[in-house]
Amino acid sequence: MNDLSMASNTETKAFDVESIRRDFPILAQQINGKPLVYLDNGASAQKPVSVLDAMDRYYREMHSNVHRGAHTLGDRATAAFEGARETVRSFINAPSTREIIWTRGTTEAINLVANGLAPRLKEGDEILVSHMEHHANIVPWQMVAERTGAKVVPVQVTPEGELDLDSFSNLMNDRTRILAITHASNVLGTINPVADLIRQAKQQGVLTVIDGAQAVPHFKPDVQALDCDFYAFSSHKMFGPTGIGVLYGRAELLEQMPPYQGGGEMIERVSFERTTWNELPYKFEAGTPAIAEAVGLAAAIDYLNSFDHTALEAAEQALLTRANQLLETVPGMDIIGTAKNKVPVISFKIAGLHPSDIGTLLDQQGIAIRTGHHCAMPLMDFYGVPGTARASFAFYNTLEEVEKLFTGLQKIQRLFT
Ligand SMILES: Cc1ncc(COP(=O)(O)O)c(C=O)c1O
Repeated sequence: MNDLSMASNTETKAFDVESIRRDFPILAQQINGKPLVYLDNGASAQKPVSVLDAMDRYYREMHSNVHRGAHTLGDRATAAFEGARETVRSFINAPSTREIIWTRGTTEAINLVANGLAPRLKEGDEILVSHMEHHANIVPWQMVAERTGAKVVPVQVTPEGELDLDSFSNLMNDRTRILAITHASNVLGTINPVADLIRQAKQQGVLTVIDGAQAVPHFKPDVQALDCDFYAFSSHKMFGPTGIGVLYGRAELLEQMPPYQGGGEMIERVSFERTTWNELPYKFEAGTPAIAEAVGLAAAIDYLNSFDHTALEAAEQALLTRANQLLETVPGMDIIGTAKNKVPVISFKIAGLHPSDIGTLLDQQGIAIRTGHHCAMPLMDFYGVPGTARASFAFYNTLEEVEKLFTGLQKIQRLFT
């Protein structure tokens, strides 16, 4: 599916969806008297027991503040926390842990980069985004543009939901300073050809920021192979806890950027005359960090690494293919986003039905999907809809659940049309 997926691990478990499901206790419950069918993974994915256990064990056995070094618990917490940073580094194949900055999530990571790059921007400069971005990769740039006189310029999307490469080439010019683009769309599922886009941007000296929020739950990005300057993602969408995310940044750029927030940890020396900044990555990590969450994220990555990634991707693609086949046959169905290369996300509308009614009626059948604008209002405007219904799959979903979504939609469609 993705040419930048890393080779599978040496010690991997066979792919067995029933045994995988037993790793996710939340999935084994009834909702509204029906077995839960969780198809809202794009919003937030569920957590395996190994993540829950790692966080529980951290609090039971090693919690203390990090980097204070005066006692054994502090050393244990620091080792777990910095070990988690190394796990993340290895997952995205970053050259150094100095380039792995903990944030609260993708949103904070992009805000950090946008603020850090602001001093480089001036009146008339252009920041290229795309029409399919999540608000998290639009609004921070608009705020920085407002301050600096730069302009946010959207690359068009084709009706099928692919990035319009002609629009990209036409808009890239000598005023372009930053390309900020999503690796995979949360609405359309489209996987953008980011390696090619980055290559073209590099040729013109344009900095590249990749929103990996919807990519990392499905495949491993290799930041060195991509050759991007920044890569942002959230733990909670990749089976880790909420409250933590990652910004990868090229060290020489991070060195040049001003800190994002001030406070403890991020300083080298403070005096009323002059304060100096800590080294990377701590310069960008003011205050006590999300320690247990870092440990949880590392456990989620270890969990993902315990499978053959190719098998996981194949299972997810089988879910997507089957869902497409079945949903297409529902009368009045309009699937929004039919790109060739997709993560397992299907947005749709059904003639005569409001997306939020579809969501509520599916919930009554135990099926969780998402409805609304998905924090992508410009994309909704492009398609001329106020919102869509969206089913987003993870490797723990089954073909049987896809069938349940289909029969659920058929039922609703018969009731209302
Ligand atoms: C593509 C994309 N980017 C950014 C975000 C924001 O992520 P978070 O809310 O975890 O910061 C999301 C969340 O849905 C997303 O799908």
